[in-house]
Amino acid sequence: MAELIVALDVQSRDEAVAKIKAIGPDVGFYKIGLELFTAEGPDVVKAVRDLGKKVFLDLKFHDIPRTVERAVKSGAKLGVDLMTIHSVGGKAMIRAAADAAAEFGASAPKILAVTVLTSLDQSDLEDVGIVGRTPADQVAAMAKFAIDNGANGLVCSPKEVGALSRSLKAGTLFITPGVRPAGAAVGDQKRVATPADAVRDGSTHLVVGRPILAADDPPAAARQILAEIAGL
Ligand code: C5P
Repeated sequence: MAELIVALDVQSRDEAVAKIKAIGPDVGFYKIGLELFTAEGPDVVKAVRDLGKKVFLDLKFHDIPRTVERAVKSGAKLGVDLMTIHSVGGKAMIRAAADAAAEFGASAPKILAVTVLTSLDQSDLEDVGIVGRTPADQVAAMAKFAIDNGANGLVCSPKEVGALSRSLKAGTLFITPGVRPAGAAVGDQKRVATPADAVRDGSTHLVVGRPILAADDPPAAARQILAEIAGL
């Protein structure tokens, strides 16, 4: 069954711990991104793990293969379950990340590739030399490239997951942000889908932030999403 990951888009370890406690036992997986990790470092990962929760460390590594290899090992030692890299870091970098993770055997973190940031449009791609490909073409090409070179899965929009899950090998993980239960505020997200639609299209992990963090009753908001995907 698809898993629910709550994005800890907060600024401090104390706030993160308070949110996790407020959400309660129904959610077992949390995303720590650049804002929180840069503020609090590995201690916040340890704090989330100490509460018995799994961690998606979303730092989107993009560097030379040796540096990414060592960063993945550092994340694996912290006990994280999912980590992100940029697919445009190239074949050797993706392989270095996958091989570094694999050294941890049963506790190896899964390596997820980012294809094209959803903030980029066609003219942004042209600015960085990607000419003659639409963002959708570039997503499809980079997704295949990342999986062929050892990534375990992809971070992608719920609008992309259907086509990607049909074209990539079975067992590929699809992590989708931009998920909104029917009736929830969309906020600054432009291309959203409901939890059920995302999972029906192949999403294996839903990343949800504000619809749970900012809800009047966060545990109830989480339970509603879990019930929606459990009923499929
Ligand atoms: O609050 P909301 O549910 O929109 O949060 C979604 C989370 O997923 C945020 O942490 C956001 O940075 C992340 N994300 C996203 N879109 C992407 C990649 C990551 O919304 N393309």
